Amino acid sequence: MIKLKNVSKTYSMGDVVVNALAGIDLHVKKGEFVSIMGPSGSGKSTMLHLIGVLDKQTKGSLIINNIDVAKLNDEERTTFRLKNLGFVFQFYSLLPELTALENTFIPNLLGGKNFDQCRKNAQVNLVKLGLGERLKNYPHQLSGGEQQRVSIARALVNKPEILLADEPTASLDSKSSLNVINIFKQLNEEIKQTIVLITHEEELGKKADRGIWLKDGVIDKEKRF
Ligand SMILES: Nc1ncnc2c1ncn2[C@@H]1O[C@H](COP(=O)(O)OP(=O)(O)OP(=O)(O)O)[C@@H](O)[C@H]1O
Ligand SMILES: [Mg+2]
Repeated sequence: MIKLKNVSKTYSMGDVVVNALAGIDLHVKKGEFVSIMGPSGSGKSTMLHLIGVLDKQTKGSLIINNIDVAKLNDEERTTFRLKNLGFVFQFYSLLPELTALENTFIPNLLGGKNFDQCRKNAQVNLVKLGLGERLKNYPHQLSGGEQQRVSIARALVNKPEILLADEPTASLDSKSSLNVINIFKQLNEEIKQTIVLITHEEELGKKADRGIWLKDGVIDKEKRF
């Protein structure tokens, strides 16, 4: 489903060159739940952004769903994302002028999906995440953890084939964190969703099928749970 072969990513800012990823080989199978761990700055988000077709690798190849995504043009990349991927970003990226419910379903309409169905799925997911009483709140009327849960609900609405989550539980207490991971686990088991989850918390990372630790842009170790 997701294949990275010798993938590197270099950021150049003036004279400073950062090797955020330095030769990653990784194969995530369809329906597999993988957690990515490792210290701050080790390249976790960079890797997720590449898999999420939000950025391009400097070297190596990345094949998702049998498609060499580096070869797609900008429009094809957008269509690919809408069709295949769901994201939960490290920073919640909600639209301030939309309510929790609108933030959850409106971005999902972009793929030409049915309005009522999206709205209904959005509400179901928000309730599941404990936000049934917050549907009409705007982001500034929500706590950080609540905003994070809205961004999770948004990623789940279309039941994307691949779910990418960058520290989705960073602002949550341990009970809500566990609830989120259990929802992921349930989706993974019920609809065979492929999940790549970044987390700092090993206790949560262990709920995945496999854990991968990055260090200085390379895979430091790997473990099946
Ligand atoms: N757009 C960018 N331009 C320049 N450097 C960047 C950019 N994005 C990331 N980096 C650098 O690349 C390295 C890896 O960053 P990345 O965000 O992937 O780390 P991370 O493992 O997700 O860390 P954290 O746990 O703190 O989120 C860091 O040294 C960072 O400063
Ligand atoms: Mg990060």
